[in-house]
Amino acid sequence: MAPSEAVEAEALQTVHLAAADVFAGVGLSSAVGWNQTADDWALFVAQGEAIGLRTARSELVATAATLPYQGGHAWISMVLVDPAWRHRGLATRLLAQCIASLRARALVPTLDATPAGEAVYRKLGFVRGFGFSRWECEAAAPAPREAGDSRVREATPDDLPDCIALDTQACGLGRASLLASLAGRQGSRAWRIDDAGGRATGFVLAREGRRATQLGPLVAASDAQAIGLLRAALTATPGPVFIDVPDAREALSGWLIAHGFRLQRSFVRMALCPRLPPGLADAPSSLFAVAGPEFG
Ligand SMILES: CC(C)(COP(=O)(O)OP(=O)(O)OC[C@H]1O[C@@H](n2cnc3c(N)ncnc32)[C@H](O)[C@@H]1OP(=O)(O)O)[C@@H](O)C(=O)NCCC(=O)NCCS
Repeated sequence: MAPSEAVEAEALQTVHLAAADVFAGVGLSSAVGWNQTADDWALFVAQGEAIGLRTARSELVATAATLPYQGGHAWISMVLVDPAWRHRGLATRLLAQCIASLRARALVPTLDATPAGEAVYRKLGFVRGFGFSRWECEAAAPAPREAGDSRVREATPDDLPDCIALDTQACGLGRASLLASLAGRQGSRAWRIDDAGGRATGFVLAREGRRATQLGPLVAASDAQAIGLLRAALTATPGPVFIDVPDAREALSGWLIAHGFRLQRSFVRMALCPRLPPGLADAPSSLFAVAGPEFG
């Protein structure tokens, strides 16, 4: 880094982002082709903490956000640096602030990293957990219902507590307010699957993204259940779809390939702790798609 660049970087002001900054946040995430919407940025501002770095002319050139969950973890996301400002330590600077703020609240910093992000996080001591892949499809072909699908039905707001309980069991993250917020958005839909006794054993949530409908979380007791839920969601989703599937869910990944999906990019789950708990080191067996790298 040239000395003048270091001085410029030093002069940037750290700010807490508010509702008025949502538009600038969407500008940064859209510029790198991400799927987040203004609703996502508003959620980080409302339920978590979003910080950024501003130039003297008030341009937002870097961001990071934290979202506290019940049960000891907090999610870090939206780590973005304007291309003109990269490799000057800005992401590292914002992360140091996020980490200090989470540690002060005894929360373990956890995140899903892109390959570029992983290089930054590894230097800060984050440990690698399970990998997952984003699959995308322009328009999924309708998949005919199969025998087991008769237990799949569209969820109503009354089903939210069951879905939250399944999500908590599957990923060990207490994020009831997050799921309530995602499910309550305009355009969001969910499907659940029940066992013979009418007890929910799986669900999938669909929410609108900037580029594509995001499917996830997808929680199920088996590959067949996960695929049944997906068939219902895809039949109701006409446009492009993204879904983030743990690499260990090979049967589901194979099904997606057979139904026209292609691999877009890879992520790795990471946490800043000496030893990863089992649900982070390996993908929990009932987790078939994460909510998205920004939420875990
Ligand atoms: C990843 C990103 C946030 C890094 O921001 P940054 O401010 O350039 O990062 P830093 O300057 O703090 O980097 C610290 C170190 O991490 C490593 N690093 C950063 N970006 C890297 C990259 N693209 N590839 C490999 N290593 C990288 C380097 O070792 C770097 O030190 P150096 O510049 O002295 O070599 C930025 O490239 C970006 O916005 N990328 C697109 C969005 C993205 O992928 N975000 C991460 C989401 S998990």
